[in-house]
Amino acid sequence: MNQKLLNIKNTLDKSRKLNTSEFFVDLNGLEIQVDPNVFSPIYFEDSYFFAENMIDIKGLDVLEIGTGTGYFAIKMALNKANKVVATDVSKSAYNNALVNMEKLSLEDKVDIRLGSIFEPILNEKFDVIFWNIPFCYIEESTKNDSHISGKLDELESAVFNSEYKLLQQYLNEGFKFLNKNGKLLLGFSPTIGNKVVFDNVVLSLGLSYKAIVNKEVEMDGHKEILQIIEFYQ
Ligand SMILES: C[S@@+](CC[C@H](N)C(=O)[O-])C[C@H]1O[C@@H](n2cnc3c(N)ncnc32)[C@H](O)[C@@H]1O
Repeated sequence: MNQKLLNIKNTLDKSRKLNTSEFFVDLNGLEIQVDPNVFSPIYFEDSYFFAENMIDIKGLDVLEIGTGTGYFAIKMALNKANKVVATDVSKSAYNNALVNMEKLSLEDKVDIRLGSIFEPILNEKFDVIFWNIPFCYIEESTKNDSHISGKLDELESAVFNSEYKLLQQYLNEGFKFLNKNGKLLLGFSPTIGNKVVFDNVVLSLGLSYKAIVNKEVEMDGHKEILQIIEFYQ
């Protein structure tokens, strides 16, 4: 595992040590409960970045995959999306997002569902689909090294993505849940993630992409690039 990923693993361990909830307050004063074992916008700046830099979704139907605390979905509802559905495979994230919707009285506007990627989506279509995907690439063999033991736990699964299998599945299935002219988007970092494997996955599926947002951001004391990527068939 390289030094950057080790630092991220250390940050995860720091956030994992908490037994109680913490509270993330964004620059607009919005307070979000962050439960232990849930990807934390307090420790990872990308949650705020993607919510702030998202395209205009006013009046649109939005699907967020991997909602974590529900922060992005909340912001989309507050930015006047017509409807927001958000999924997460993690039971802790699902419960955390439900608590935040209730605290902000958004239960009627944001529909939180438990399940892997598009599993909880049946015959629905959306104008925008987005996932701040776990973009730290690891190889299957890395899971046997001393830093990550065997199966990824809930929190590790929020940042590490073995062989980019989740990316492959997201791109393979995503287009069929889009309305005509809908956009399949992804949050990614080419400086933290593995751009070579990313490009191979996209190419192998016969797709192309463009970074519609590309900015340098200070993360954990380092300058990193964060991107919102749009895919094309
Ligand atoms: C990088 S975190 C982003 C969390 C949140 N959207 C944010 O920006 O703060 C990735 C999220 O994807 C979720 N996730 C991982 N694998 C998933 C899967 N197979 N299906 C749905 N969600 C998944 C994780 O539980 C985690 O909440």
